[in-house]
Amino acid sequence: MFQYSKAMLLNLVLVSFVLLSSIRDGSAGITSSFVRPQWPGVDIPVDHEVFAVPKGYNAPQQVHITQGDYDGKAVIVSWVTPDEPGTRHVQYGTSKDKFKTSAEGTVANYTFYNYKSGYIHHCLIEGLEYKTKYYYRIGSGDSARDFWFETPPKVGPDTPYKFGIIGDLGQTFNSLSTLEHYLESGGEAVLYVGDLSYSDEHDYKDMGLRWDTWGRFAERSAAYQPWMWNVGNHEVEFLPEVGEVEPFKNYLYRYTTPYSASKSTSPLWYAVRRASAHIIVLSSYSPFVKYTPQYIWLKEELARVDRKKTPWLIVLVHKPLYSSNVAHYMEGEAMRSVFETWFVQYKVDVIFAGHVHAYERSYRYSNIDYNITGGRRYPIPDKSAPIYITIGDGGNLEGLASSYLDPQPEYSAFREASYGHATLEIKNRTHAIYHWYRNDDGKKVPADSLVLHNQYWGSNGRKQNEVIDEVVNVK
Ligand SMILES: [Fe+2]
Repeated sequence: MFQYSKAMLLNLVLVSFVLLSSIRDGSAGITSSFVRPQWPGVDIPVDHEVFAVPKGYNAPQQVHITQGDYDGKAVIVSWVTPDEPGTRHVQYGTSKDKFKTSAEGTVANYTFYNYKSGYIHHCLIEGLEYKTKYYYRIGSGDSARDFWFETPPKVGPDTPYKFGIIGDLGQTFNSLSTLEHYLESGGEAVLYVGDLSYSDEHDYKDMGLRWDTWGRFAERSAAYQPWMWNVGNHEVEFLPEVGEVEPFKNYLYRYTTPYSASKSTSPLWYAVRRASAHIIVLSSYSPFVKYTPQYIWLKEELARVDRKKTPWLIVLVHKPLYSSNVAHYMEGEAMRSVFETWFVQYKVDVIFAGHVHAYERSYRYSNIDYNITGGRRYPIPDKSAPIYITIGDGGNLEGLASSYLDPQPEYSAFREASYGHATLEIKNRTHAIYHWYRNDDGKKVPADSLVLHNQYWGSNGRKQNEVIDEVVNVK
């Protein structure tokens, strides 16, 4: 008789687990049975302490930073002063209370319907050292406020870095839960996938006000680490009925991106390199078909990607290209048909999207052989394809999108209508650890986890049938 030792049995279980977890085996996906509480989908009242206005005359508020250049040696600091423009300077330095240097920014205000904005500042700080903690001060006198940020390590292939991914956040108590969980995650920068304040869900007269409250809400993270911004449909705010016909007006005055550093001609689409990642941000709500500026730019930017410097190629876009949720079904299909061939050709590692207020992760599938006169009509397993992750589950007032197509499509690996956020922890040029955390579990319990094998370095020498990515903890 065979006598299995405990160690042999453990090995057997582990090998079976990895084989069963293979991403390219086409195994059925999981629709989570987790039952989450249905919290009310209303915004936190304007006078709640979470939106507290900082004390002092003309004190800077709504402070947020974003990367200011292509490679992470610059930061853009943005803030709002309510009463008058005040100083345009940011004082900064590497020791607390010793601000040896200052930079001067710009200031502007605007009107939206019957709302008049505060004075919105943007200040570019350049020539920073890599991997350094900087302290900065904005405002003046008794109203001055101090913050800090850390610059990323120099761009390089084996530079570890931990990104957070948040989408469709809004300003409800669920949004607050998401943000508080993210603050405990150890993430160093946020990849934001669009739909910020949901101010357009309010009366015209309150829309500007709700941009202000969201700015104060997000400050607890965004003043201390860069958020890479991306637009969603709630940023469009095209309202001819009240004379507001300039799309993205509130958003563009308040949020900025380093678009010219990546040769983009619009703040709505751009790229940055940070540590070992090349991050491409696309606009779902700007023209993207052949001959348009975004199309031409993306073609050129993909050609600039150097996987020997930045092994990890990540795309952010608001509308998901693969989603099996009933909500917004196939809204991303036009962009998929235009860009998917490039995403496979360039072996994009992962594409994060929002828009659908739920969570979903795909296997590596593509649908690039289809054309209207024939060919293969269905998505097929494709080891060169990205993983598509929908993470529009930040917690806004519209609530969850809990209806999924049934049966679950083959490309869909895991889906669940809960609120949460994710982290992508890059270890080196070959491996990264991905976690999705549902709010209900607290920070320590990932509800979907994956070891990602880099699509460029991880696939070199990959054998047929070799595991591409491993699910490490799916409940
Ligand atoms: Fe959206």
